[in-house]
Amino acid sequence: MADWVTVAQADEIAPGAVKVVDLDGANVAIFNIDGEYLALEDVCSHDGGELASGKVDGDQIICARHGARFCLRTGEALCAPAYEPTAVFPVQMLGSAIQIKDERWD
Ligand code: FES
Repeated sequence: MADWVTVAQADEIAPGAVKVVDLDGANVAIFNIDGEYLALEDVCSHDGGELASGKVDGDQIICARHGARFCLRTGEALCAPAYEPTAVFPVQMLGSAIQIKDERWD
């Protein structure tokens, strides 16, 4: 069973900002959306683009490469050219520490 891993402190990711961290070899983009932290694998399911460099629109991210849109909460692909979801990760706060875990292989 996956353990929670501290990946950042809250003051490292300002509202509207994103930080990419390595979680056991997976690049995970942690977004601060109006004070809520959402974690998404930093890989577009269309052609591997880095989602952290995309444009945030509410709780969605628009891939900078070809414009696919993903829900930051569910990872669902919302428009072409992406059709498959990208992974999302649960987030919890432990004091000011942001923790995530990868439950995909549990
Ligand atoms: S790599 Fe993201 S839309 Fe093509």
